[in-house]
Amino acid sequence: MSRVRVGVLISGRGSNMEVLIAAARDPAYPAEIALVVSNRPDAPGLDKATAAGIPTLAVDQKAFPGDREGHERTIDWALREAGVELVALAGYMRLLSPFLVRAWAGRMVNIHPSLLPEFPGTNSHAEVLAAGRDKSGCTVHLVTEGMDEGPIIAQAEVPVLSTDTETSLAARVLEQEHRLYPRVIADLAREIAAERVS
Ligand code: GAR
Repeated sequence: MSRVRVGVLISGRGSNMEVLIAAARDPAYPAEIALVVSNRPDAPGLDKATAAGIPTLAVDQKAFPGDREGHERTIDWALREAGVELVALAGYMRLLSPFLVRAWAGRMVNIHPSLLPEFPGTNSHAEVLAAGRDKSGCTVHLVTEGMDEGPIIAQAEVPVLSTDTETSLAARVLEQEHRLYPRVIADLAREIAAERVS
């Protein structure tokens, strides 16, 4: 059976994208990375994907001033053109409009560096430390219209140490992200492949 084609959306470093690419090098992995798209042409992850032989596309949001949907229609077109069946947000740091969310309902997931529903947004690690929590972690969830909302698929926990800084906590959480995301994408790909034949 053909592997499920995954489109990965990034905005920056792309370390989660890299672990997905690495996992998909195993021919037994049920998904392949068909396309990496960035909303920022200078995202370092784009070069890493290219070096790994993965097709990339930068759809610069600055080219669509005041037109979030136009930006996303271009992304959507590229994903469909590449035969993508599942979209993985991997550090895609732009709130999606209802257009793209609805277009990929049930087929788009995000990874977030906190134990959602707590600490959504872009400042999770600082907020976890400020709240004095003794654990944090990461969450993979289906993407819905609210930021970092949507049904939770899986989580992984890490301890928060009294000596932690934002940097040390982020690194501990990221390690878990790198384990969790390939596992969840594999599970979802198996489900999608099973739906194809049923
Ligand atoms: C990751 O920690 C990811 O969970 C987070 O951005 C980082 C991207 O790193 N995403 C969010 O905060 C989404 N709300 P990466 O580019 O190295 O994968």
